[in-house]
Amino acid sequence: MKFFIDTADLDEIKELADTGLLDGVTTNPSLIAKSGGNILDVIAGICEIVSGPVSAEITATEVDMMLEEAEILGSIASNVTIKVPLTVNGLKTCKLLREQNKMVNVTLCFSASQALLAAKAGATYISPFVGRIDDVGGNGMDLIDEIVGIYSQYPGIKTEVLVASVRHPLHVIEAAKIGADVVTLPPSVLRQLFSHPLTDKGLTAFLDDWRKTGQSIIEQSKTRA
Ligand code: G3P
Repeated sequence: MKFFIDTADLDEIKELADTGLLDGVTTNPSLIAKSGGNILDVIAGICEIVSGPVSAEITATEVDMMLEEAEILGSIASNVTIKVPLTVNGLKTCKLLREQNKMVNVTLCFSASQALLAAKAGATYISPFVGRIDDVGGNGMDLIDEIVGIYSQYPGIKTEVLVASVRHPLHVIEAAKIGADVVTLPPSVLRQLFSHPLTDKGLTAFLDDWRKTGQSIIEQSKTRA
């Protein structure tokens, strides 16, 4: 399963990219607004840090303008993935961009029928928003299960299921059990994945016992050389 982070905060991206566990980044207009930077600089900055796919979302609603924006964003770096909304024009744009071999992430997916259309338009990624479905009393993970199940019936579908709007570690585990291709995580959720109180407790006990021995692996290796 690939791990992307869902943020436009360059400091967060730098810090988490250092773990070596990041496969890509997703952004959206709200995250760009939150970063306080202008979109072209922010996307260029992210692409300097991360070599995997970096989703940059177009904001036009008509196909001609969508293509023009896609051209601008795509020229920033070869790893930019154009993010388009799941609208008729978004899917038209997706199809045209895919014919030019550009990577496309179709976003704002809330139903299996929308996911089917995105696959038909050749999307590289489909982004169902699990948290926002949960927020209105639905079950986001049921949608992931449905889409992964449908796509698996058709070997010709190459669209990857990118689980978005993730709120907590359980979403990640459920997505992995279902076999989703990618999860995009807010940095706080990625950090939560590392933590377990028994890991901290166990490490403290190991290090306390080790200190009492007075041993050092590095010092021992020097005397044995
Ligand atoms: O980037 C798309 C998605 O992950 C947004 O998440 O938390 O705003 O629902 P959220």
